[in-house]
Amino acid sequence: MKNLVLWRSARMSTLAGKSWGLIDHGALLVEGEHIVWVGPVSDMPDNLRQRVVAEHDLGPALITPGLVDCHSHLVYAGNRAHEAEMRLRGASYEDIAKAGGGIRSTVSDTRAATEQALFDDAAWRARRLMAEGVTTLEVKSGYGLSLEAETRCLRVARRLGRELPLSVKTTFLGAHAVPADYEGRPDDYIDAVCEWLPRLHAQGLVDAVDAFCDTVGFSTANTRRVFEAARALGLPIKLHAEQLSNMNGSAMAASLGAMSCDHLEHLCEADIELMRRSGTVAVLLPGAFYFLQETRVPPVAALRAAGVPMAVSTDHNPGSSPCLSLLLMASMACTLFRLTPLEAVRGITVNAALALGLRDRGQLAPGQRADFVAWSLDHPNELAYWFGHSAMLRTIRSGQAQP
Ligand code: NIG
Ligand code: FE
Repeated sequence: MKNLVLWRSARMSTLAGKSWGLIDHGALLVEGEHIVWVGPVSDMPDNLRQRVVAEHDLGPALITPGLVDCHSHLVYAGNRAHEAEMRLRGASYEDIAKAGGGIRSTVSDTRAATEQALFDDAAWRARRLMAEGVTTLEVKSGYGLSLEAETRCLRVARRLGRELPLSVKTTFLGAHAVPADYEGRPDDYIDAVCEWLPRLHAQGLVDAVDAFCDTVGFSTANTRRVFEAARALGLPIKLHAEQLSNMNGSAMAASLGAMSCDHLEHLCEADIELMRRSGTVAVLLPGAFYFLQETRVPPVAALRAAGVPMAVSTDHNPGSSPCLSLLLMASMACTLFRLTPLEAVRGITVNAALALGLRDRGQLAPGQRADFVAWSLDHPNELAYWFGHSAMLRTIRSGQAQP
């Protein structure tokens, strides 16, 4: 049977194993949506070569796995440039949130927007990320904070995955902030969130559940209630943890088998050990660190020493990280957080996939999805080196070359 498509290029970086996995004069054989073989052209087995029906030569390009952005709040209306200006004049993120701005102000704008307008804005943003090689994107709700508005935001996220050449994983973040209509009643609001979750799940809108555990978010006890509701439905959990303070949310999330804990600037040693034991990925978000002008960096050396997998993401959102460049995040993960370029690139590919519970992407290897990117680069360490522009030439997603 002749059914394989051959992609050739001067160099490939498979990221399979612990190193770059460089292959010069590489060949990648694709059957349908999956990779069946990858290696030097000269080593291609004859029985596979005979099955090739089409051949594409990407010339001098470097091929890497498609990029995975594993933490985004892509669906919202309006922006918060005025709050950024207030912060530049000295107000803190917490002060603005306590005064009714912050997440709540985006909630007002989002509730007032039509589903079509939310989709159009989110699709524009998704295309900016895709223009830098993103082939899988996580999208959270969290700016609706009512059953109706959260449903709308999750429907928009699902529609992105249907209408764009992009894999989208949806995350329900009902526990993002206490909305104005529940002022002073966080426990009642968490009751509501726990009651909405099975209804959203029944509509097929939820791939995972997240919460914001912090002084300006929810207590560890309330976060746990949301996670127990998620686990009862068999849904995986993720957490915004130890961003502005240490609430030991990571320890609680790890004890419930969280896929990832994200931010982690205030993470302590003891909780790193719990994350290691539960196989929880540490998602680092240098965009929020930079934009909020934080000074405390996540404990990267300790995470590395413990062997906790590290991912890197945009955390795109209008309040703390209005960033649409995953490559810039890779660069900043190195300069601000001291990741190595290899760690940063694994952080936006294989470990980002792991943070979403996906083991079928993020590497170039047999059985993996045929999601890969051609770059005008010599070495993959340049993905974390150049910033402010992208050397992307072409994306191949599910085996199909994108226009
Ligand atoms: O990931 N930390 C909580 N959530 C977002 C910020 C949300 C906002 O300010 O709108 C974050 O940084
Ligand atoms: Fe976030």
